[in-house]
Amino acid sequence: MTLTFDLSSLQDTADFARALQPLLKRGDIICLYGDLGSGKTTFVQALGQVLGIEEDIDSPSFVMLKEYHSGRLPLYHLDLYRIKEPSELMDLGLFDIIESGVTAIEWPQIAEQLLPYQTLCLHFEFDGQKRELKVKGEPNYLVILKDNKQHKEI
Ligand SMILES: Nc1ncnc2c1ncn2[C@@H]1O[C@H](COP(=O)(O)OP(=O)(O)OP(=O)(O)O)[C@@H](O)[C@H]1O
Ligand SMILES: [Mg+2]
Repeated sequence: MTLTFDLSSLQDTADFARALQPLLKRGDIICLYGDLGSGKTTFVQALGQVLGIEEDIDSPSFVMLKEYHSGRLPLYHLDLYRIKEPSELMDLGLFDIIESGVTAIEWPQIAEQLLPYQTLCLHFEFDGQKRELKVKGEPNYLVILKDNKQHKEI
């Protein structure tokens, strides 16, 4: 099952994060797909806000992993754009932290084979005019998101 949401505005991204936040629990992994500038980091910032994280969330591009502990759950934010070998993921310590919080991964393709858990997949699409989010993953999440009237499903 795939759900598609209109993400025309920053408020739409914020509304989606607000709908998703209560469903999240420790150990959850959110894979964020989409081209450069499609809105992945913006979503993580919105998620951080509704988790109650006080620090500013910026792109982890160069450090690859940033963590935030001031919210309802720890948030781990990764950007694997520069990772070339799956073995480099071991050096990041990714598999030691996953169980203790929510992990959001930009450019997750290199990790796909190694992620041992069912993940929620968010596909951000931006064609220069229209922004859409396609959500794929755990049926339970999708049903609840679908029923949530806070945001516009299209
Ligand atoms: N829903 C939205 N509505 C309008 N603008 C948006 C939306 N989401 C993101 N943007 C804008 O698009 C730009 C790029 O967003 P962002 O940095 O989140 O992309 P990204 O997918 O993380 O890119 P990268 O792959 O380079 O990390 C930002 O200026 C951001 O404000
Ligand atoms: Mg980004």
